[in-house]
Amino acid sequence: MYNVRPMQAEEIASVARWMILLPLLQRYHMTEASACRMFEQAMTRGDHLLAADEGDSLARGFAWVMPQGAFGRSAYLRLIGVHPDYGNRGIGSLLLQEAEQLAFDAGRDFFLLVSDFNTGAQDFYRRHGYRQIGAIPGYVLPDVTELIFWKPYPAR
Ligand SMILES: CC(C)(COP(=O)(O)OP(=O)(O)OC[C@H]1O[C@@H](n2cnc3c(N)ncnc32)[C@H](O)[C@@H]1OP(=O)(O)O)[C@@H](O)C(=O)NCCC(=O)NCCS
Repeated sequence: MYNVRPMQAEEIASVARWMILLPLLQRYHMTEASACRMFEQAMTRGDHLLAADEGDSLARGFAWVMPQGAFGRSAYLRLIGVHPDYGNRGIGSLLLQEAEQLAFDAGRDFFLLVSDFNTGAQDFYRRHGYRQIGAIPGYVLPDVTELIFWKPYPAR
């Protein structure tokens, strides 16, 4: 029913168009233009950009993994998002599992940051085996603490 695959350069604009509808990204002042730039740069750098399709509906979710984005040593989930009309049907879980697999196949731990106010995403990550191991107050937005979540490489 769902299919996760690499995102293509040609679909960046259409993903950018819906992702800025997510309240989280509005809070971080993301615009269509900045989202496009961000994904284009990620692709150029060779980061992993995953897209999830549901049936014939293309790219209803994405996940962006920087292979050594955490401390130059571990993989980092830079961003994950699901189209506002397609939430709560397993797309985010599937993307997260595929993103993790990229990290674990390379023998790397997986890290991510989640906003203190984003309790829904915190619960989502905890249910997937992540735990909070730190916090960075005012790291991105002055009034928001970024919580550091960690899932170790399973062999350890
Ligand atoms: C966080 C986010 C990626 C989760 O994506 P999602 O597709 O809604 O996630 P899922 O559907 O896999 O899981 C969400 C819930 O749906 C339920 N669910 C999972 N699979 C399901 C299925 N096949 N059918 C119905 N419900 C399902 C789960 O019970 C889950 O509930 P839980 O939260 O109690 O575990 C999404 O809410 C999102 O894009 N949020 C805005 C951006 C954001 O906060 N990103 C994280 C930044 S750090």
